[in-house]
Amino acid sequence: MMKTVLITGTSSGIGEAAAQYFLKRGWRVCATARRLESLGAWSRMADVIPLSLDVTSSDSVRAAVMESVRIAGRLDVLVNNAGIGLAGPLEAIPIDEIERHFQTNVFGSIRMIQEVLPIFRKQKQGVVVNVSSVSGRFGVPFLSPYCAGKFALEGLSESLYYELLPFNIRVKLIEPGGIKTSFTQKFAQHDAYQPNLGSVETRMKQASGPESALPGPESVAEVIFKASIDGSKRLRYPVKTQGASILQRLLPEQQWRAILGKSLGIAKRVSDA
Ligand SMILES: NC(=O)c1ccc[n+]([C@@H]2O[C@H](COP(=O)([O-])OP(=O)(O)OC[C@H]3O[C@@H](n4cnc5c(N)ncnc54)[C@H](OP(=O)(O)O)[C@@H]3O)[C@@H](O)[C@H]2O)c1
Repeated sequence: MMKTVLITGTSSGIGEAAAQYFLKRGWRVCATARRLESLGAWSRMADVIPLSLDVTSSDSVRAAVMESVRIAGRLDVLVNNAGIGLAGPLEAIPIDEIERHFQTNVFGSIRMIQEVLPIFRKQKQGVVVNVSSVSGRFGVPFLSPYCAGKFALEGLSESLYYELLPFNIRVKLIEPGGIKTSFTQKFAQHDAYQPNLGSVETRMKQASGPESALPGPESVAEVIFKASIDGSKRLRYPVKTQGASILQRLLPEQQWRAILGKSLGIAKRVSDA
């Protein structure tokens, strides 16, 4: 029987690459986007079920999951990929922006999981794939809300891993390093945090800009697919992290933080502002 995956945020980047990866391997893909017209031409293929979905709305999540199961008859894998960026010194970021961020990056995934679990339990199988980040493994200066969201997703997934094992439902965490997509971290500004803020912003923008040497989203799509079908009890799948997650685990904590701070150009003191 044809397998079905539901992926959030397939209008671009990792979600779109994952949709195409599953399609090429004979899966039926419930391809979701806030605006259906933002889906690429591939979404008109026969095995695609295009659905509108905003993960910040419980009604939208419920309707998309119900429609997927109604058309496909079953659901084998959920990929929680939709996410937005948010950056800058914490004190400069309005609280409603942080709430909006969590509504998408954390509560959006929770809404999706809550909606598919009864289906997976009934089927006595299913895989939940959560797209986290290396930023879910260690803090990065001026990415505090983003890291907090990804840390939350990591904790949630690790707890769920145990809860769902007896139901033959697997939980997977995908942890990419920097990937070349249209993903943007919107930087809030605050003079008091210069020059560190400028240094981190410049480095991140250079790394993801037009001259970027970062790997493309296909590398993540491949790992999402492998994690979905490997049948293992493995939880975490780092992708193209340039060894950062290994270093972080091996080095004494203080040494790791010194290396990370230095690589991002963090000066120990800032000028009075
Ligand atoms: N790029 C990286 O370096 C990197 C590294 C590690 C992890 N990640 C993670 O990978 C995931 C995908 O990011 P990406 O790099 O592929 O970025 P992207 O190209 O900007 O894709 C983000 C996707 O999320 C969707 N989305 C945003 N808000 C949504 C909402 N409320 N409801 C439903 N969909 C929504 C966007 O759809 P719209 O068209 O509706 O905006 C878009 O399809 C994110 O979770 C991100 O944190 C990215």
